Amino acid sequence: MRILVTGCAGYIGGTFTFEALKRGFKVIGIDSFINGKKNNIKFFLENYRESFKFIEEDLSDYKAEKLKKELDSIKIDVAVHCAGLKSVDESEKEPLLYWKNNVDSTINLLNILSNSNVRKVIFSSSATVYGDSDIHPILEDFGIEPVSTYGSTKVAIEQMLKDSSRSKKFDVVSLRYFNPVGSHKEMKVYESPYSMPNNLMPRIIRVALKLDQKLQIYGTDYDTRDGTGERDYIHIDDLVEGHFKAVEYIKDFKGYEVFNLGTGTSITVKEIISCFEEVNGIKISHEYADRRPGDIAKCYADPSKANNLLGWSAQKNLEDMCRDAWKAIKNNLNDAK
Ligand code: UFG
Repeated sequence: MRILVTGCAGYIGGTFTFEALKRGFKVIGIDSFINGKKNNIKFFLENYRESFKFIEEDLSDYKAEKLKKELDSIKIDVAVHCAGLKSVDESEKEPLLYWKNNVDSTINLLNILSNSNVRKVIFSSSATVYGDSDIHPILEDFGIEPVSTYGSTKVAIEQMLKDSSRSKKFDVVSLRYFNPVGSHKEMKVYESPYSMPNNLMPRIIRVALKLDQKLQIYGTDYDTRDGTGERDYIHIDDLVEGHFKAVEYIKDFKGYEVFNLGTGTSITVKEIISCFEEVNGIKISHEYADRRPGDIAKCYADPSKANNLLGWSAQKNLEDMCRDAWKAIKNNLNDAK
């Protein structure tokens, strides 16, 4: 089977690509390197010469000549669309950049796929589409009320895919990720803490590496177990496994379907810090700060639909996530930048 992976140099697309190559799939990867790492591509090309092909291109460029040319000669069975900008904060400051990079590029991709008769698409969506839900855990049919531009672009893409599936041109599975953390079991692909990330785990790692003196905990007065934000953190290996289940599922599936990929357990900021300290034996100095604009109190999944229809459930726990996130950086200190 041949899979097209967009965003194949990034944390999630790269981890999926690595695991797909290990499992014997052929992968055509595309990335613009806006956020992706060149080292990931170098590693795939060196180790999977026969089964990996890379295209450096920006999908929001309507010409996308390299991809079009490639798809003229090669038959793709499934497209896994991971490419996209993903910072909530940045999306509020640069909304048009997010609409161009996330939405425009998907319109372009779908046109190219349609012209090449590729009809199976798996899309990296996000729990951010639910916004600030009053009810937890969150089911797929809850209201869609994004509170950031980033979230709005994910909703728009989901709608575009749903509409396209009605036209019978595409069969689509959207995977709504909760909070992916940790590193692939072989520690070759990981999330870099060096590019001033906004997310909690790479910020914790920055303190562990002494790049930052203290972690700021954004808000201690939320209506949660200990006043700090509660999220559903999911190990990247489990998240990636969910994609392989979706690849299986979509083979005989027709239409549009959406699944939550989360563990169903919520963890507070204080709990993840304590776990990281205990598992890795490193103190994470922290201080309390104001709430971060746009943040919500809690967000965690009801993953039973994915359990039942995909036969998928998360296997790894918070200790695994904290241990693997740190181990990958420790193992790759020279390359991680
Ligand atoms: N947090 C801190 N300090 C930090 C960073 C984060 O206290 O330095 C807190 C946040 O306030 C929040 C929690 O840690 O309570 C998690 O924050 P993240 O930034 O790691 O994750 P978010 O839940 O805000 O958003 C993430 C992704 C989105 C995705 C969403 C899905 O950034 O892309 O999860 O739930 F859509």
